[in-house]
Amino acid sequence: MTLPSIEVARGLTGAQREAIADLERRVLVHDGGRLKLEWGVLGQRPPDEANDLLAWDGDTLAGFCGIYDFGKDPELSGAVDPSYRRRGIGSALLDRTLELLAQRGRRSVLLVAPRATDSGRRFAQARGATFDHAEHHMELEGQPTGPPEPRPSTVGLLVRPAIEADRATVVSLLEDAFGDGAAAFGATDPHDLALVVERDSAVVGTLRLSLEGNAAGVYGLAVRSDLRGRGIGRAVLYQVCLEARRRGAYTVTLEVEVGNDHALGLYTSVGFELRTTEDYFSLAI
Ligand SMILES: CC(C)(COP(=O)(O)OP(=O)(O)OC[C@H]1O[C@@H](n2cnc3c(N)ncnc32)[C@H](O)[C@@H]1OP(=O)(O)O)[C@@H](O)C(=O)NCCC(=O)NCCS
Repeated sequence: MTLPSIEVARGLTGAQREAIADLERRVLVHDGGRLKLEWGVLGQRPPDEANDLLAWDGDTLAGFCGIYDFGKDPELSGAVDPSYRRRGIGSALLDRTLELLAQRGRRSVLLVAPRATDSGRRFAQARGATFDHAEHHMELEGQPTGPPEPRPSTVGLLVRPAIEADRATVVSLLEDAFGDGAAAFGATDPHDLALVVERDSAVVGTLRLSLEGNAAGVYGLAVRSDLRGRGIGRAVLYQVCLEARRRGAYTVTLEVEVGNDHALGLYTSVGFELRTTEDYFSLAI
């Protein structure tokens, strides 16, 4: 049997996105859960950059692999149509993707494997990838729970858009919270708003809010380490969820690292519910 041919797309046309959405539907009917395809990102792929690999069998999209290059290591997310699995398509897509990333000088990647099925984990392990971490995907539908009790540290908190003068503080907050300041300002996605939290004229926290249609996402919420545990995170999240609703979002989603019980408790208290969990496997190129 011949393998489907792999197309390396630069930018994505509407037809290519529709084929990916159709593949996603077929995969979810079979596996459940969700695929972390970041539709906001797929809708804004720069036309001069190769980030998406599509395995075609005639007119049928048999597999897809997307490169999501926003942090330290690029993340790879994708899937193979259930009726095309175990024929080497996932391997061929991954090999071609790793080739591209090697040309860009990248040394390692993170494979995103949804827990709704075992196949991603088994595939990653068969490729010699090692478990890095796992993240819960959480969702708030409708109104956030609250408002939280005011506390001395939350009086006078102001959430405002970040400006260039905030850059150094935001990078240091993100470095401190996630060991990675590179994602600061999220300038790559036009749907993203970089926000800072101000108290007594000092920046004490940061987060990004992405708004697209009736869906919003919160990313990289970080509060200065000496001010944590005083209700600032909860107050900010509540305020930002209200603002997202005011701007037309019905759902707000976020991801939290498995094991970060403190953050999980905070999100649950604002009304977020656990939807799915994804494992991240690290693979050297
Ligand atoms: C993971 C996925 C992309 C693999 O695609 P695929 O085309 O079936 O993968 P391949 O045929 O190239 O498999 C390569 C090897 O991985 C391992 N593997 C893949 N799927 C497996 C499974 N369900 N059970 C056990 N081993 C598996 C095997 O060692 C396989 O080699 P073999 O078939 O010769 O034994 C596909 O199962 C899928 O779409 N899963 C749901 C989405 C997902 O998890 N994506 C994240 C990928 S990290």
